Amino acid sequence: MLTVKVLLRDAEKVKQYLFEKKLFDNRFVLERDKEYIYFPIIKKFSHFVPKIFLSFQERRDKLKICQEHDLRKVLEKKLTKKELEHLKTAFDIVGDIAILEIDDQLVKKQKLIAKTVLILHSNIKTVVKKKGEHKGKLRIQEHIYLAGEKKFETIHKENGVLLKLDINKVYFSPRMASERKRIMEQVKKGETVLVMFSGIGPYCCVFGKNSLAKEVYGIELNKAGHKYAIENVQLNKLQNVMLLQGDVHNVVKKFVAEKKVFDRILMPLPKGAEDFLSDALAVAHKNTIIHFYDFLYEKDFDKALRKIEKSCKKAKKKYKILRLVKCGQHSPYVFRICVDFQLLG
Ligand SMILES: C[S@@+](CC[C@H](N)C(=O)[O-])C[C@H]1O[C@@H](n2cnc3c(N)ncnc32)[C@H](O)[C@@H]1O
Repeated sequence: MLTVKVLLRDAEKVKQYLFEKKLFDNRFVLERDKEYIYFPIIKKFSHFVPKIFLSFQERRDKLKICQEHDLRKVLEKKLTKKELEHLKTAFDIVGDIAILEIDDQLVKKQKLIAKTVLILHSNIKTVVKKKGEHKGKLRIQEHIYLAGEKKFETIHKENGVLLKLDINKVYFSPRMASERKRIMEQVKKGETVLVMFSGIGPYCCVFGKNSLAKEVYGIELNKAGHKYAIENVQLNKLQNVMLLQGDVHNVVKKFVAEKKVFDRILMPLPKGAEDFLSDALAVAHKNTIIHFYDFLYEKDFDKALRKIEKSCKKAKKKYKILRLVKCGQHSPYVFRICVDFQLLG
């Protein structure tokens, strides 16, 4: 494969030049070492970028084929046409674990697919597949080992924090990173925040690390999730995060007894958060902002507003809806939404 070798400091200018002149070979992933970057190109060229030293280099077999769409390309020769129709090329990456969805029609080829993913992605050490859906109160999903290092524990990096977890023992979704960032950007200096259903602590750690919150509390029922959350708070050297293991209903009762209230309350339990709205209202003050999650069809989004209306009416609380945002997809046509609302007294 032909590449053009460039000093790292000149990489951006050369990249632009290659794109402009349509010389970049985007079937391949560029490579770099300590000093140089190697851009895959379709042919040699004579128009040197002014004042930049370039050299052409053959790097046979060294460049990796571009990811995702090329998983299909690499497997084209190894799977039948029918099998290729069932191939899902998109997958989640948690830490160094790739989580594939394998169609039933492809079970016999799952090891081959997993090994191909390992070859194409040097950052992936383990490949697993999802087994079924998130189940039960703890929302745990089972995964089956397919290739690479045989492990389910990893450390994921998100929004500047490290999150250790076992994908078979706890709930975690890397797809919620931008939603966590959205709320992180709203947290104001000195706020006391409550994260109900805190899992391994992604919201708590992201707020603890990136905001000026005074205190961030997390409540989680899953003992394994709580254990990882404690480890994650230590891993990120956070001083302002407090974690409590137990059922939100019970822990909130203790807060009520202590007259503890929060400036911001998160309810990231899209299946069933409405059952905990009265708990959130019990530890809210007159300006508290609540982030309420739900899974709904687009035509039913107002159902979330009705749930909030019903609970606030019962608790005799006034409120205003700040916004309703789509922050993910649960299944075809079913969205994960978040309603941000503020109490007014
Ligand atoms: C959808 S997950 C969200 C976890 C975490 N916030 C995250 O984003 O990764 C919901 C979490 O709520 C926990 N959970 C369910 N019911 C609970 C309850 N009654 N009290 C406390 N935690 C609960 C589950 O164990 C699970 O970890």
